[in-house]
Amino acid sequence: SDSSPSPSSSSPTASYIEPDGKEVAAAETRRRATGPVREVRLTAARTELDLGGRKVTSWAYGDALPGKEVRVTAGDTLALRLANHLPQATSLHWHGLALRNDMDGVPGVTQRPIAPGAAFDYRFAVTHPGTYWFHPHSGVQQDRGLYAPLIVEDPKEPLKYDKEWVVVLDDWVDGVEGSTPDAVMAELAKGMSHDMGGMHHMSMTSASSPSSDGPSRMLMGATSPVLGGDAGDVAYPYYLVNGRTPDAPETFTAKPGDRIRIRFVNAGGDTAFRVALGGHRMTVTHTDGFPVRHMETGSLLLGMGERYDVLVTAGDGVFPLTALAEGKKRTALALLRTGGGSAPDADVRPKELEAAPLTADRLRADGAVALPSRRPDRTLTFELTGSMTKYDWAINGRRYASSDRYPVRAGERVRLAFVNRTGMWHPMHLHGHTFALPGGGPRKDTTIVLPGRRVEVDFDADNPGVWMLHCHNVYHAESGMMTLVGYR
Ligand code: C2O
Ligand code: CU
Repeated sequence: SDSSPSPSSSSPTASYIEPDGKEVAAAETRRRATGPVREVRLTAARTELDLGGRKVTSWAYGDALPGKEVRVTAGDTLALRLANHLPQATSLHWHGLALRNDMDGVPGVTQRPIAPGAAFDYRFAVTHPGTYWFHPHSGVQQDRGLYAPLIVEDPKEPLKYDKEWVVVLDDWVDGVEGSTPDAVMAELAKGMSHDMGGMHHMSMTSASSPSSDGPSRMLMGATSPVLGGDAGDVAYPYYLVNGRTPDAPETFTAKPGDRIRIRFVNAGGDTAFRVALGGHRMTVTHTDGFPVRHMETGSLLLGMGERYDVLVTAGDGVFPLTALAEGKKRTALALLRTGGGSAPDADVRPKELEAAPLTADRLRADGAVALPSRRPDRTLTFELTGSMTKYDWAINGRRYASSDRYPVRAGERVRLAFVNRTGMWHPMHLHGHTFALPGGGPRKDTTIVLPGRRVEVDFDADNPGVWMLHCHNVYHAESGMMTLVGYR
């Protein structure tokens, strides 16, 4: 009957077989390139970076932080050679792209790790416009500064704007007092029960217990969306916008009255940000590359890995673009300058940050990309488990193994049910697809799951392969909060 429950799996199965070559070929046909081949060369290397008066030595793409953006047009083929000059093996993942599985950049799953001194050629059709980014899928390398925006322009761009500003948010530890993300991970992995005395510039926030006071909490109250939990485990020494500390912020110039498209990317390893442009309202047009019904707001919340595109009409003066690190009481800063006036203080808090930020659950998908409603053929349930005391983040109580497979079949409508059994936020990310939030919600590839909450998202299994599903807190992922969905 119509109300029969859909098949459900709560553990990775052993009966997995690799996807049928015909299905892979069919997916490739749907993705056929129509434009030119864009050749890009990229180097990952140890380098000195200037965070605005503060020099640090870390790892970066092309000696820059963020790495230089890659910009293509939908329909192009991207041919990018990554040369690995790092002392460790690396990989490169294209966050948010529905690309061919063997180019997805997950070492041990879709490719061999790229050894130090070696190179790898990524080559694939880029078929969907939007705001994306890329980073390694190797340990916690992303948190050293290996990230860059990937902008896919729309040949039939429907939005009208005068200028575009790509704004990449980050939390920064590497090169500061000799500490690295690997050292942070090692300390975290010992759990809260250990003496953290050696981590004098890092403070761990303890997890509070899961909240359970009804579904309205998911809609995020008027005061703070983080009631009942924490966004991150690490208090970083610096928070950055486009690689700059608030003491030497990037200044974006425009004319009063210009319409500016701002593309926000949260590349932070362990930090959700609340962003606002002082003196301006923002019209949200996209999230995670996909259009939404336009919605106005003073501020926005971005979990790790999420992207939002907004339009603003520039006022006359100097305005702070502030990113408040959720739960950490610290800010990152950039400036919009359209006229005279002095710059605000480095720690300025625009009043737009006082009201509740817009969150993805309040958005609706643009009609053109709304997922047609359909009963799921299959529901996969993912209990998000673990604690700060043990630092044993996992999915369904199981830490990641590259042999994990939650099976789906090509053509199915699949429901992912995330149930957060912990006191921390988990921004959950699926590779190779975008899912839809419930009730005509936006198409996304990353969604925040708050403590104690259940979030259900649906996607169409139309891209055969083996795809990562994980928390985008890099420390949670590295500790084991990752698994794999595999077509069979
Ligand atoms: Cu941006 Cu698997 O991640
Ligand atoms: Cu997490």
